[in-house]
Amino acid sequence: MRHVYLVTAFAVVLAVSVLGLRGTKFTHPPMDVFPEWAFPGMKRQPKPKPQGESKFFADGRADRPLPAGVVSRDPLRNDDTLYAGKASGGAWLRGFPVPVDAKLMARGKERYTIYCSPCHGAVGDGNGITKQYGMGATPTYHDPRLRDMAEGEIFNTITNGKNNMQSYADKLVPEDRWAVILYVRALQRAQTGRASDVTDAAGKQTLGLK
Ligand code: HEC
Repeated sequence: MRHVYLVTAFAVVLAVSVLGLRGTKFTHPPMDVFPEWAFPGMKRQPKPKPQGESKFFADGRADRPLPAGVVSRDPLRNDDTLYAGKASGGAWLRGFPVPVDAKLMARGKERYTIYCSPCHGAVGDGNGITKQYGMGATPTYHDPRLRDMAEGEIFNTITNGKNNMQSYADKLVPEDRWAVILYVRALQRAQTGRASDVTDAAGKQTLGLK
């Protein structure tokens, strides 16, 4: 019989502790069972924070000035063609600053499918899955303006975003951006094929062309 009371008490305490405080926001730090002053340890260690103060140094700053002559560990990105899509005169680059081959195309297709197709659609017509969820303003690539757009300007759109389209610079390294642009070009070309583009005999026969 004694167990029934114990079990009930336990169940009540459990229910209150699990459910009773749901949604409550605490602003005070939790109770410290082993306070630092009584049990000194490594729980709270003094540390300088970036751009913080420090009494240790004469200038009162926690940060130390860089030694003379240090250089960034990041590679120097001073090639405006590769990293900004600009031709030498400052206009948007037409063409690609990286070798164009089947490997670049395959990479571009893969990256495009991951990062662009949700909005721009698998064939680049702007009918991606996001349209079903109310994002209606994604443009099609099969619009004369976007067909004529310089590769460098597309690079800029991917790098910096445009209005509702965010930047993809953190997801696609510059080389991947060029790969994606190559695939966008392939999608555009795929919609503008003509019978005269088919030159091999077998292809003509399949399509019933003379
Ligand atoms: C979240 C949805 C979304 C994704 C993902 C997305 N876009 Fe866009 N994109 C848009 C929208 C919306 C616009 C229209 C922006 C505007 O208002 O001009 C746009 C515009 C563009 C344009 C035309 C820019 C212009 O100057 O008119 C290009 C080119 C483009 N996107 C390429 C891409 C590429 C390449 C990717 C993948 C790396 C991508 N987009 C991913 C939504 C998206």
